[in-house]
Amino acid sequence: MARFAYVNGRYLPHGQAAVHIEDRGYQFGDGVYEVVTVAAGRMIDEGPHLDRLERSLSEIAMDMPVSRRAVQLLGRELVRRNGVRNGLLYIQVTRGVAPRDHKFPKLARPALVMTTKHIDFAAQPKFTEGVKVITIPDERWARRDIKTIGLLPNCLGKQRAAESGAYEAWQVDDDGLVTEGTSSNAWIVTADGRLVTRHLGSEILHGVTRRTILAIAAEECIALDERPFGVDEAKAAAEAFVTSATSFVTPVVRIDEAVIGDGIPGPLSRRLLAWYRDYATGLRDTG
Ligand code: PDD
Repeated sequence: MARFAYVNGRYLPHGQAAVHIEDRGYQFGDGVYEVVTVAAGRMIDEGPHLDRLERSLSEIAMDMPVSRRAVQLLGRELVRRNGVRNGLLYIQVTRGVAPRDHKFPKLARPALVMTTKHIDFAAQPKFTEGVKVITIPDERWARRDIKTIGLLPNCLGKQRAAESGAYEAWQVDDDGLVTEGTSSNAWIVTADGRLVTRHLGSEILHGVTRRTILAIAAEECIALDERPFGVDEAKAAAEAFVTSATSFVTPVVRIDEAVIGDGIPGPLSRRLLAWYRDYATGLRDTG
């Protein structure tokens, strides 16, 4: 099936979709993005993703390039044209094309680009076998709540993880506390069954999946703590997992050399994944 990308008002064949070399996203990383999961043909948590897009834009002094409703409809149309039943919609907004100069251009029009990807969320061993994470220093800027396309430290971290045979790298702040993964939020389950994830602030991205998992856990009366946890606490935890639009709930069975729990996905992680799948396929309405 032909694959299309949306580029500034047009659906173009993916191979021909391009932006100018002086797009500020390309030169400065001056832009923000969203990744929205598509499951069984439906956009998961579309509203919260659009909320976060608006917030990221406003934090970098930009408006939505078109109305919120238009972004929604353009994204849905791209998903439809590309026949995506399961996968993701990528939305990117940059400050547009202008001769290179750090300060904001007066005339540039924001650029809106969208692509899709097919992903088979069912057949992935990471959900059944769990994954390894490594720990690395958090070397990013201080505004990690903004979903910027400037992801160099995240890419370096993910590459280090891949070279160590790991799925993700948990970034650790100067106090030895885990902030988050390079493209996911970090969670542990304590020996007495409490779910722990770092509190919101500028140190982490405010994950949409994190938000949904907190809502599901609250509904299921699971004890929750939104607080930082250290690497030592994580290594000694009963369970660990990561969440993101594409990871859903992915159990973590090793952190560096430490085996977590019994070295297999823990019971709470598995239940949360099952509940999240129900939510994603419309069998549950938390959100
Ligand atoms: N990443 N933290 C970081 C640094 C992220 O990049 C992401 C998402 C998350 C999880 O957020 P959410 O639950 O809203 O997906 C946390 C996306 C998937 C990406 O960059 O591909």
